[in-house]
Amino acid sequence: MTTILVLGATGMTGRPLVELLLGRGHELRVIVRARHKLPATVLEHPKLTLVEASVLDLSDEAMAARVKDCDAVVSCLGHVLDFKGMFGQPRGLCTDAVRRFCKAIEANGAALPVKFILMNTVGVPNPDCGEMRPWFERLVLTLLRHAMPPHRDNETAAAYLHRHIGRNNKHIEWCSVRPDSLIDAEVSPYGIAASPTTGIFSGRPTTRSNVAHFMAELIANPELWNTWKFRMPVIMNTGE
Ligand SMILES: NC(=O)c1ccc[n+]([C@@H]2O[C@H](COP(=O)([O-])OP(=O)(O)OC[C@H]3O[C@@H](n4cnc5c(N)ncnc54)[C@H](OP(=O)(O)O)[C@@H]3O)[C@@H](O)[C@H]2O)c1
Repeated sequence: MTTILVLGATGMTGRPLVELLLGRGHELRVIVRARHKLPATVLEHPKLTLVEASVLDLSDEAMAARVKDCDAVVSCLGHVLDFKGMFGQPRGLCTDAVRRFCKAIEANGAALPVKFILMNTVGVPNPDCGEMRPWFERLVLTLLRHAMPPHRDNETAAAYLHRHIGRNNKHIEWCSVRPDSLIDAEVSPYGIAASPTTGIFSGRPTTRSNVAHFMAELIANPELWNTWKFRMPVIMNTGE
């Protein structure tokens, strides 16, 4: 039996992920601000445990209890794209959640490493791959970093896993999944690459259900996990 904690479960990617994981028979834990945003089929599912709270309001002890005996934690958190969500608090939503849940996992001292999957963005480069962007993209990303707190938050969340947790943590293995521009549609053919294969502003879109599907596969398929752990795979639709 696999037990998974999903953060951001009410989001546009979190919801299809939760439905997929429950459909596959996993034990699921979620922490949501508003339970009414989840469908009744999810809320009434016998394998769902729900805590209603704003995730960063939880104490360290409550976070440790949420991740105890979990095999995987998936963060689909993202800032609400309105003025308050982008420029208000918590500016470090994704980073603080990654940092505090990683500390909670370490505090529990699980015998086997917990898989930590972060939904990130192709706008964040992978420092291991020498991803040198054209000058125009570098300029736009620098402007985004300074003008848009959510972009900076995505960068620091990925950097926490990459630099702080690294590859030798006894309790945590991680993967930062980097979609291109997100769209909503059914699961469709998609491709995974170590680095962007097109310019990040001219790449193919990525369907949120495809991101959910890839993250569920990372949890279920040990070979896939071994391929992509400690890496930052880019996911893009490949169909027409
Ligand atoms: N938009 C794009 O094209 C794009 C492209 C690549 C990557 N991404 C990244 O992908 C991630 C997820 O995207 P998405 O579109 O699936 O996100 P989304 O639909 O906006 O969902 C965000 C989730 O985060 C939660 N959340 C937001 N603010 C919160 C707060 N202050 N405290 C607690 N929870 C909070 C939301 O809860 P509520 O339902 O309660 O608000 C929701 O569950 C984001 O990090 C985003 O940056 C986006």
